[in-house]
Amino acid sequence: MRSLTQLLRTNIQNLKPYSSARDEYTGEEGVFLDANENPFNEPYNRYPDPYQRKLKAIIAELKEVDAAQIFLGNGSDEAIDLVYRAFCEPGIDNVVSIDPTYGMYQVAAETNDVKVKKVKLTSDFELDVAALLDVVDANTKMLWICSPNNPTGNCFRETDVETILRKFDGIVVLDEAYVDFAPGRSMLGKLNNFPNLVVMQTFSKAWGMAGIRLGMAFAQPEIIKILSRIKYPYNLNILTQKKAMELISQNKEKTEQWIKLLLDERIKLASELKKLPFVHHIYPSDANFLLVRTTEPKRIYNFLVDKKIIIRDRSTVTLCEGCLRITVGSPEENRILMDALRLFV
Ligand SMILES: Cc1ncc(COP(=O)(O)O)c(C=O)c1O
Repeated sequence: MRSLTQLLRTNIQNLKPYSSARDEYTGEEGVFLDANENPFNEPYNRYPDPYQRKLKAIIAELKEVDAAQIFLGNGSDEAIDLVYRAFCEPGIDNVVSIDPTYGMYQVAAETNDVKVKKVKLTSDFELDVAALLDVVDANTKMLWICSPNNPTGNCFRETDVETILRKFDGIVVLDEAYVDFAPGRSMLGKLNNFPNLVVMQTFSKAWGMAGIRLGMAFAQPEIIKILSRIKYPYNLNILTQKKAMELISQNKEKTEQWIKLLLDERIKLASELKKLPFVHHIYPSDANFLLVRTTEPKRIYNFLVDKKIIIRDRSTVTLCEGCLRITVGSPEENRILMDALRLFV
C-alpha cells in the first residue's frame, strides 16, 4: 500500500484543524465561559462533545472495535463525502466504483470534482476483480465496494474483496449499510489485517434510526484521525448523541427481532411476487429489499404511486433493465403492496 502520506491530499496533510473551546478543557464540571454560549436554556445551551466520546465507547463495545477506530458522522453520507475530501485532489485524482451501486459515491465525487471509473459487475452481480484492478492508475486513490450492494441486494465473496484489498494500494471503502441483514458477512473483524480498509455502517437501516442521522466509518486510527480533523467540529448534535446512546442500549434485542421478522417477510414477499405473471425474476437478497425484474417497470411503478405505494424504479440503472427495487416493509405494508399488485393488468 502507498503510505497514508502518499494517499492524502497535500493541503489536508498540512491542515491545522479548528480548535474548539472544548478541545482545551475536556472535563464535564466547571464554569464554562469559553464558548460564548448562553448560560441559560438548559439542557441544550451547550455545544455537544466534538469527539463523541461516550457514544463511541458504546459503539466500540457493540461493534467489538477500538474507539480510536471509529468515526461518527451525520449519516454515512458525511463519511462518504469526507473520504473524498481527505484523499482526492480535485480535478486530478480518481476513484474506481462498481456499477450498479449506491448513487452517493458518484454525487460526492462530482461535488469534489473527482472522476469515477465505473466497472460493471458480472451478469450474475459478482465483482469483476480483474477489471476493477485493471482500471486503476497512478491517480486512483479509492475503490468503492458496497456489500450487500444497493440496488442488487447481494453480498460479494469475501475472497474477492480480500484480493482487491491486497492488490490495490489505495483505500478500499466497503459500505456495509445493509450488513445487519446478512449476519456473519461483515468484514469489520478484518480491520486490523488491512490498513487500507475503511468499513462504513449506519444506524439508518436495521436499527431504525434513519431520522437521527448517525453513520459510522471504521478504519485504522490514523485514517480516523484525519477524518476527525476535517469534519465540522460539532458534526453530531446533542440530541442525536443522546438518543443514539439510549436506543443502542434499549433496542438491541428489538433490532435483532426486527431483523428476524424482516428476513421472514423477505422470503414471504419473494414467494408472493414470484406468482405474479409480470414478474420475471427475483434476485437473491442479503438486504432488506428485493430487486425484481418485471415486464413493465414504469407502468407498475406509476400504478402503485396512484395507490400511494412508493417503490423505486431502477430500470434505467446498469444491468437492471426492467427492475424495481422494493423495500421489505411491515407485514401489513407488504400485504397492502401485494393486494395492489394482484390488481395490476
Ligand atoms: C449503500 C448505502 N450506503 C449508505 C446509505 C446512507 O446511509 P445514511 O442514512 O447513514 O446516510 C444508504 C442509504 O440508502 C445506502 O443504500
